[in-house]
Parts: sequence; structure tokens; C-alpha cells
Amino acid sequence: MSYQHSRIAETAELLKKRFAELDNKREILRAVELKALFEELKTLPPEERSSFGQEVNALQAELRRMVADSQDEAEALPPIDVTAPFDINTPIEQRPSLLPTENGSKHPLMTELEQVLDIFYRMGFTAFESREIDDDFNMFGALNFPEGHPARDDYDTFVTVQKDKDNKPFIAPAHTSTMQNRVLKQLKPNLEKGEPIAAVIPGRVFRNEDLDARHEHTFYQLEGIYVDKGVNAGHLIATLKTFLQEYYGKELDVMTQPFYFPFTEPSFEFALSCPFCDKKGCHICSQTGWIELLGCGMIHPNVLHAAGIDTNEYTGFAWGGGIERLVMMKYGIEDIRHFESGKLDFLRQFA
Ligand code: DAH
Repeated sequence: MSYQHSRIAETAELLKKRFAELDNKREILRAVELKALFEELKTLPPEERSSFGQEVNALQAELRRMVADSQDEAEALPPIDVTAPFDINTPIEQRPSLLPTENGSKHPLMTELEQVLDIFYRMGFTAFESREIDDDFNMFGALNFPEGHPARDDYDTFVTVQKDKDNKPFIAPAHTSTMQNRVLKQLKPNLEKGEPIAAVIPGRVFRNEDLDARHEHTFYQLEGIYVDKGVNAGHLIATLKTFLQEYYGKELDVMTQPFYFPFTEPSFEFALSCPFCDKKGCHICSQTGWIELLGCGMIHPNVLHAAGIDTNEYTGFAWGGGIERLVMMKYGIEDIRHFESGKLDFLRQFA
């Protein structure tokens, strides 16, 4: 592969030489020279950033492929007889292992999530983790879904047989918005100190979906909330656009369309120009040039009231969207089910 930017071409040559000599081939992915190119990218004027960023990403991808290829060669583990009886008393070191741990790697979603959170940290947001079992109040009540409201049916929730103190089943959260009320309450003292509430909440969510290339029953979302005096929808759009441009390393166009969520007013569906084809139309964006990415809006006053926040003084915005979607577009991954599949040929491409 040849690179147009001389700094990148030089680094590529240097790293390939070093790669040949490394015992642990994976170390090449942590080379300071590669990190330096990513640092340099941030300092470039916007008009140069896109082509430079694409080449740095291409170099990183090339190095990853080289590492993966070298591991395929190195890996000749004896096959495991899956039908053999397993004795639970076998000491750990004598148990068959699928892969030696040095061949294990971080799941690509976690690697990407770290990058996503890093961008939001730099933008002044704090992260909270969502939970994997929740209750009716946090899933619906605190989010302005009245009892019996048809919008509750939009979320095909899994529930438990066991009931909570209000005699309602516990719920496997169908969105990370379940955390809004808790985080708003916890960070409310910020407002009293004259500071905003700025939080992002990643979490695993569950829906009783019909599965296909775009729908999974278990996936990750990232929720965001921001509350302060004088916050408006312009801040919402600018925040999301800034994040997305940083994540994809390029200039993007964004678009909002009216939508409905009980917990925001107004509510929007947020779309961005396809980072894969730059609006030319490709299979990732179904030839439309645009990708609908997430739901967002201005936090409904009832949601702020439920957390004891004075809506005469404060307004805020929130958003929530699938993390897989974000990552699929970055790498051109065509099927969301790969992430939960545990397929090694998929995972190794990101190792
Ligand atoms: N929770 C919504 C969903 O999963 C997404 C969403 C929309 C989250 C608007 C928000 C928001 O915080 O303001 O469909």
C-alpha cells in the first residue's frame, strides 16, 4: 500500500521494518510513531484533516491485517474434542482452553467505546454505567410515559416474573434512557454550583426484536444528557456534530427531522452524511447518502421535574443511540449480529 502524505509513508516504512523484527507482533499497533500521527491529525486545519485522517486509518488497518495474518500462521492449536466428558474437578491448568490468553483481545465494541468516551471526556462529560436490570419507574414513569400509554409498546421489553415493590415486573432495560432520572438527581448539585449537568451513559440494552442484519436483541447504547441555563437545540446539534466529526476524523453534515419520544419536546431523529461515501450513495447508507443515527431532543419538563429540577431556570438536551451502528459505519460492518456472535474470524480483524 502506498501513502501520499510523506510523514505517513515514512512511518509506514519504518513500522514495517520493525514489524519484521518483533517477537510480539501486536506491539506494532502500540508504536509511538503511529500514535504521533493521530496526535498530528488533531492539529491539522480542517481542509487537510480528512485526507490525512483517511491515510492514518488505512495505515492502522494495514498494520492490523499484518498482525492478524502473522497470528493465523502462528496458530496451530490441536483441535478440541467437544464431545469429551468434562470433569469439573480438573485443575484449571489441565483444562482444555480454546485459545491461549495471549491470543485473546479486547472486543471491538469495547475498544470503540473507550474512544467514544475519551472524546466526551475531552468535551467535559462524565460517564455513568447503566444497569442490566431496572424497574418500571425508571424505564417508563420517570420518562413521562403515563400508565397505559401506547408509546410503552414501542419498546418490546423483556420482563421478569419477579415483581418490584409496586408489584410491577423488573425490566431488562430497552434503552439507556432508564438512567436519566438517577443521573439527573445525582448531578443536580452541579446546577446549584453554577455548573452544567453533562453526562454520558453507555450500557447494554435488550429488546424482543425480530433479528436481522440491523436488529439484535442485545446491543449497546450511549445516552447523553446536558442541562444548564439557556440550553437550546442548537447546542444539541453542535455537540453531536462535534463528537461525530472527531470520531470519524472528518467533516460531516448533519440533519434533524421531527420525531416523537415522550421524554423530549421537541424530539428529533438525527442523521449524518454517510461517513463511508460522503453522500455519494453506497450500500452502507442504502444509496441515500444519509444515515439515521439516533434519537434526541430537548428534555421534557416532566422529566426534569421528576428529578426535582426547576424548569423555569434550566433546560437541557438528551440523546440516545446504538453504539454498534456507529462502529458499523466506521468499518463498513454489514451485519450487527457479528458483534454478539463470538466468531473469531470477525473478532480477529480488530485484534
Ligand atoms: N431512548 C430512545 C430509544 O432508544 C433514544 C432517545 C431518544 C434517547 C431521545 C434520548 C432522547 O435521550 O432524548 O429509542
